[in-house]
Amino acid sequence: MTNRIEFKNVSKCFGEVEALQGVNFHLGQNEVVGLLGDNGAGKSTLIKILTGYYQPTGGEIYFNGDPVEDLTVPRARELGVETVYQERALAELQTLWRNIFMGRELTTSFGFMNVKKMQAETHSLMTESMGFTSTAVTPNSAIQTFSGGEKQGVAIVRALYFDADIIILDEPTMGLSLKETRKLLNFVRGIKAAGKSAVFIDHNIFNVFSVADRVVVLDRGTVAGEFMTSEISLDDLMDKMYRIAETGSFEGEVDEGFSEGK
Ligand SMILES: Nc1ncnc2c1ncn2[C@@H]1O[C@H](COP(=O)(O)OP(=O)(O)O)[C@@H](O)[C@H]1O
Ligand SMILES: [Mg+2]
Repeated sequence: MTNRIEFKNVSKCFGEVEALQGVNFHLGQNEVVGLLGDNGAGKSTLIKILTGYYQPTGGEIYFNGDPVEDLTVPRARELGVETVYQERALAELQTLWRNIFMGRELTTSFGFMNVKKMQAETHSLMTESMGFTSTAVTPNSAIQTFSGGEKQGVAIVRALYFDADIIILDEPTMGLSLKETRKLLNFVRGIKAAGKSAVFIDHNIFNVFSVADRVVVLDRGTVAGEFMTSEISLDDLMDKMYRIAETGSFEGEVDEGFSEGK
């Protein structure tokens, strides 16, 4: 099956800094890929290229098998990429339904905002997709009353509702409590269940391991290795991560199943 996204030999320089060097990366259909790597490894740069926020210095990008030149943010969105931003991207003082439909309001045949329909849609999304069971939360509740995890859930559901095929999450668990993190990981599983694809970045290897089909490890701008989570234990993956942090490579006795990236 054609990959949703493919990077071939992608590089990105910021002046002297080579944030990415010759990166080959792909995201399959209905696949969740976890990106791991130390601070400065190039994780955010990679996803900013695939969301059209940065243009690569070199290499090629393919969407569904077709080369895409001059990828911009609007073009990436057209191609089905949605980014789940940190909670600040939600309008805190606005209601839940307004946040869901912000910038893409439903209208009546006369061109007026169809508030009733948006409230009703929000209500079914809340109960079916966001897992809000509390009667205290309604489509008219202000976002500022939600927990961090609930806000992330709203952002993911918004991305799913608008039929994004590829959802990007860059450190979405940052600042969340354990309970909220669990909820968020369930939302990510919901992306998979909905038949969509995702790129998930998190500092916490447990979080990545528990939602990703495949883990790609970046190290100083290059792909150090990749693993199917079904083919490696969490212990072995952690071992490899420690090894790379210490020595800059996976070399050593515990390297069965390791496939070298380029
Ligand atoms: N806009 C920028 N200007 C200059 N250097 C940058 C910029 N963005 C990222 N970098 C550098 O590129 C490298 C990779 O950064 P980044 O992709 O943010 O890493 P990560 O998300 O894995 O922590 C780092 O050395 C960082 O300092
Ligand atoms: Mg980052």
